[in-house]
Amino acid sequence: MRIAVIAGSVRDQRMGRTVAEWAAFRAAAGGTVEVDLIDCAECALPDDAELRPGGSSGSPVSGRIAAADAYVFVTPEYNHSYPAGLKRLIDWHYREWMFKPATVVSYGVQGGLLATEHLRAVFAELHMVTTRRVAALARPWDHLTPAGYQPPEEVAGMLDGALHELGWWAGVLRTARREQPYAR
Ligand SMILES: Cc1cc2nc3c(=O)[nH]c(=O)nc-3n(C[C@H](O)[C@H](O)[C@H](O)COP(=O)(O)O)c2cc1C
Repeated sequence: MRIAVIAGSVRDQRMGRTVAEWAAFRAAAGGTVEVDLIDCAECALPDDAELRPGGSSGSPVSGRIAAADAYVFVTPEYNHSYPAGLKRLIDWHYREWMFKPATVVSYGVQGGLLATEHLRAVFAELHMVTTRRVAALARPWDHLTPAGYQPPEEVAGMLDGALHELGWWAGVLRTARREQPYAR
């Protein structure tokens, strides 16, 4: 099983990378999952003038997104939604996402859930399934240490619950993609 953890903030002063590293560490903790951290700040996507409906070719991370069975999106809440850089990464791909599950680790003053709910609508358009449980980190900057993001245990438990659901969907949908590919 391969999970891609996607870091959505590209700000030079961001804390998102630290949160994404925490999420990747917890996702890999069981030892049965291979984790790939895809950082939007490190994805040199082509100019949006070249975007085409139904996805485009030429993204430098297309292969890594396609190789994943499931996704953990790590996103801040910006003006009650998710960042534009993350939308660019999503829009630059299409088939790579299809029929796969996603969960969201959001953060902000009150946990960033408005970003998550906007992502759910986008994921539905891409034939993705979003887990019911997600992780919402309220004021994560209060738990930054020299060793990284170290939240209270109940916050870690929230992510573990979402990852558990994600793992179930990942297995079910991987089998379905292989044995009963969707056709219309
Ligand atoms: C453009 C912008 C808009 C923001 N809007 C919100 C918001 O709507 N809700 C919220 O809780 N925090 C908001 N914040 C504060 C962010 O939660 C906080 O800056 C966080 O660290 C951003 O994540 P990042 O450092 O990984 O980019 C906003 C921050 C920025 C830069």
